[in-house]
Amino acid sequence: MSASLPAGRALGAPLMAHDYEPTIFEFSEPGRHAASFRTSGLPEWTAEELVPESFLRNESVALPEVSERDLVAHFTRLTHRQYSVDLGAYPLGSCTMKYNPKSADAGASLPGFAQVHPGAPASCTQGWLEMLVELEEMICEITGMAAATLQPAAGAAGELTGLLLMRAYHEARGESERRRRVIIPDSAHGTNPASVTLSGYEVATVGTNARGGVDLDALQALLGDDVAGIMLTNPSTLGLFEEDIVQIAEAVHGVGGLLYYDGANLNAILGVVRPGDMGFDIVHLNVHKTFATPHGGGGPGAGPVAVSAELADFLPGPRPARTESGYELRVPARSIGRLHSWHGNALVLLRAWMYLRLNGGDGLKRVSEIAVLNANWFKERVRGLYDIAYDRTVMHECVVSAKTLHHKVGLSALDVAKRLMELGFHPPTVYFPLIVEEALMVEPTETESPQTVAALAEAFLQIANEALGAGNAEEAEAAPRTTPVGRVDEARAARKLVVTFDQRRGD
Ligand SMILES: Cc1ncc(COP(=O)(O)O)c(C=O)c1O
Repeated sequence: MSASLPAGRALGAPLMAHDYEPTIFEFSEPGRHAASFRTSGLPEWTAEELVPESFLRNESVALPEVSERDLVAHFTRLTHRQYSVDLGAYPLGSCTMKYNPKSADAGASLPGFAQVHPGAPASCTQGWLEMLVELEEMICEITGMAAATLQPAAGAAGELTGLLLMRAYHEARGESERRRRVIIPDSAHGTNPASVTLSGYEVATVGTNARGGVDLDALQALLGDDVAGIMLTNPSTLGLFEEDIVQIAEAVHGVGGLLYYDGANLNAILGVVRPGDMGFDIVHLNVHKTFATPHGGGGPGAGPVAVSAELADFLPGPRPARTESGYELRVPARSIGRLHSWHGNALVLLRAWMYLRLNGGDGLKRVSEIAVLNANWFKERVRGLYDIAYDRTVMHECVVSAKTLHHKVGLSALDVAKRLMELGFHPPTVYFPLIVEEALMVEPTETESPQTVAALAEAFLQIANEALGAGNAEEAEAAPRTTPVGRVDEARAARKLVVTFDQRRGD
């Protein structure tokens, strides 16, 4: 692999955090390898001893040949460019980027867990199975459900699992041919309609009423015996608790449909109210948001699905189960089959178990109370300069809007987000939910101190005041100027994907 660094840069020249960072392939030199300077007295393995012939590929693989020193420096420089939950506030609404206790990582790193092959027989993995059974029990208690599968790899995988369970339920009643539609509010997360389509159902969209809840009249008009169920996020992606949930549950059950709860963001209701008690039949949780393992950057996740007793027989298997003498794996009687190899993303599940052991009991209720307090405090502090999308007490997140600022001085939600980066914060989610113009969805989470939430609100106010004072959004439009990568052409980035560094060079 030949090195082709930007003009003027020699390989080996010192790199600063803001410099162009070559790819690891560009550091490659033939024959260069990891650490040892020793040239003699090393054990002499033959190639066959190192890698058996049967495992060798015929073609050569272009792997970088680098020293351990260059490798570590490269990745360390990259991490210095990264904003992370460990660095500061990360108010990315709908993503619950809370600070995660390091003890959750420590538990997941214990060799007794981390070094076990998932295919080891149950007799050798009793500790693992015990942990998984306990986690399932805790999830059932938190959600008010009867049984759960821990297999799905993330929220979207949980949604697909839940919809397949919905279909299995209707099939068992001989109604799956007729029940073709799944109702989803227009405020829903994009994965909801995608999962409905992927599972072979049709999406029926229900509108939002003036208070940000499901429009009951519109819902009634959609209901019929062709409805398989409804998918709801509660609190919704507007950060609002669904006030009419009892009537909605009655109406959907009334036509034989099931209620699916998108519990990706359970942060507002822990220990306060349970989806099962609201009338839901199927719930998925993003444990990688609510119970440790920061969500984002495409990292690993886990989206367990919990169900009512009526649906337990359809769950994916094999499932870890408690017996009189220990733990074993069982496949439910009418299982829809596997949704993931082995037990799913098991180390993410272990982090969730650690988190729940640390914060269970009255801790979870406090988590939710503080998350809700922080979101409401923030909303009230920015009121006046930012519009409040639906003016109600919010739950764990709030959707404010730059609509008026945009109309007055041209300051868009995107400009606010970019300028926030210069002021030291990760931006909030922007332009979602789609039904709010110039939306800024802020989720401070419970792990941020009152001082940090106040500083975040001050940054929002400063950005608005700068634009109003100058009569335009010029300052924010130039942002970010202090980050390794400045303002990018978002439309081009989305439409013209360049996934190899070589092509990027030619551009
Ligand atoms: C409301 C909601 N539902 C579903 C999902 C999908 O979860 P995942 O990204 O783990 O697939 C998300 C993720 O952000 C979400 O916020």
